Amino acid sequence: MWFVPFHILCQPADNRSHSNSLSRVQITPMDDTISASLRRLRPSNETPLPELCFATDNAAELARLGGLLRTFLSDTAATGPAVRLFGGHAQQIEALQRSGAGTIVDAYEKFGLGRQEDGRLIPGFQAQMIDGFVLYSDLHMLPRDIRRSNMRDAYVDPLWEGPVISSLLPGEPCERALDMGCGCGVLALTLTRASKHVIATDVNPRALQLTEFNALLNGVTNLEVRHSDLFSALRNDRFDRVVFNAPVGLEFKPANLLEAGEGILHAFFAQLHDHLTDDGMCWVNICTKDYGRSRFFDRFRDNRPAGSGKFRMLFLEQWRMEKGLKFRARQLAARLFHPGYGSLLHIRRGILCLQRSETGPAYEYRTPYFRWTRALGSEFGSRFVEWAIGQGPETARAAAPDSLLFLPAPDAPHRELALQIVQGYGAQAQPIYPVSE
Ligand SMILES: C[S@@+](CC[C@H](N)C(=O)[O-])C[C@H]1O[C@@H](n2cnc3c(N)ncnc32)[C@H](O)[C@@H]1O
Repeated sequence: MWFVPFHILCQPADNRSHSNSLSRVQITPMDDTISASLRRLRPSNETPLPELCFATDNAAELARLGGLLRTFLSDTAATGPAVRLFGGHAQQIEALQRSGAGTIVDAYEKFGLGRQEDGRLIPGFQAQMIDGFVLYSDLHMLPRDIRRSNMRDAYVDPLWEGPVISSLLPGEPCERALDMGCGCGVLALTLTRASKHVIATDVNPRALQLTEFNALLNGVTNLEVRHSDLFSALRNDRFDRVVFNAPVGLEFKPANLLEAGEGILHAFFAQLHDHLTDDGMCWVNICTKDYGRSRFFDRFRDNRPAGSGKFRMLFLEQWRMEKGLKFRARQLAARLFHPGYGSLLHIRRGILCLQRSETGPAYEYRTPYFRWTRALGSEFGSRFVEWAIGQGPETARAAAPDSLLFLPAPDAPHRELALQIVQGYGAQAQPIYPVSE
């Protein structure tokens, strides 16, 4: 059994009277107040997903633990039992104690991060170091297994794409930022660096609990968590930055909170204009589907309410699927779910960057950002996006040599890679259809 004396009670989405800062999140004894939604998600025939057990009173202790974890995780060459534990693998307690990780064993027990069994410490979560932050999230599960699980709506994204997206977020300072669908809070924490105040929302209460925990672990104090179904708990809020690693993949209809189907994008884009400041920017990680009679960006345009203004757009395409058995199966499924759209042409995964602007060009660029963000880091990624979002290929071509400006540490191989990306943008960026609005 998981030891769970406390639980963060998330406020219902419509209740506007709640938290405005970390310390105002209510902490309530769990046994009599566990949220109804979590109970619903955990039928007795499956082992429940682990619960963290902490309160805001633990802030100082958690910040100390975060410091200790950082020392273990920042040594990328380290291979000891503690590092394997952070990777989600059970370890002998004696071996952990011998390697100097005794404090971590105690903390795992105290905060519900793991349980002891037959002399071993069995982790309930995995930890990663991303962009200088220590983050816990759920252990890795295959999407297929999540779909089959009765706990599918409580499971939190185990950092599949968040780390890469965080490398493309802007570094420019701003007032207010929103991480929609925050999961364990990876993007929200990155946003706290440049934004004075960040709101992290999710419809999954376990995600909010993990975000809150990770914020305390990293000593972050300008982050607020809110339970919200899209913008339902944000009715009067406007932001300079909005980021949404959207739960949309290859599926055609909602399968769980991590595979919600394209409908969630339409709902999101229909409300975005009410929540973005005049030159505000938005990043959405999406899976787009183009059909013979209905292109994704046409549907995107049609879904925007009249008078919502124009956007500059940059779609960075990571991969495209248009052949193979898996794709043929999707084509058949598409006929079933969207018979009016015509045949499925391709599925594309990428990041759509938007900036509110009356003079916005819209371009797309195919680039393996999963690879280059790792090599070049977030300073290059964020500066590249801020630069490219307003550039047509002509201006981009002319400015390409200045791309050296994007490099924080211009050693030779990195300089060449950065130049390739920027010159590639100048040579290959395509207008997003339809060209005229
Ligand atoms: C792909 S995960 C991204 C998690 C995290 N931002 C990251 O990058 O690792 C999508 C998140 O959206 C949340 N979500 C799904 N439907 C939602 C909704 N209607 N409103 C708010 N969040 C939602 C899911 O619970 C999940 O945490």
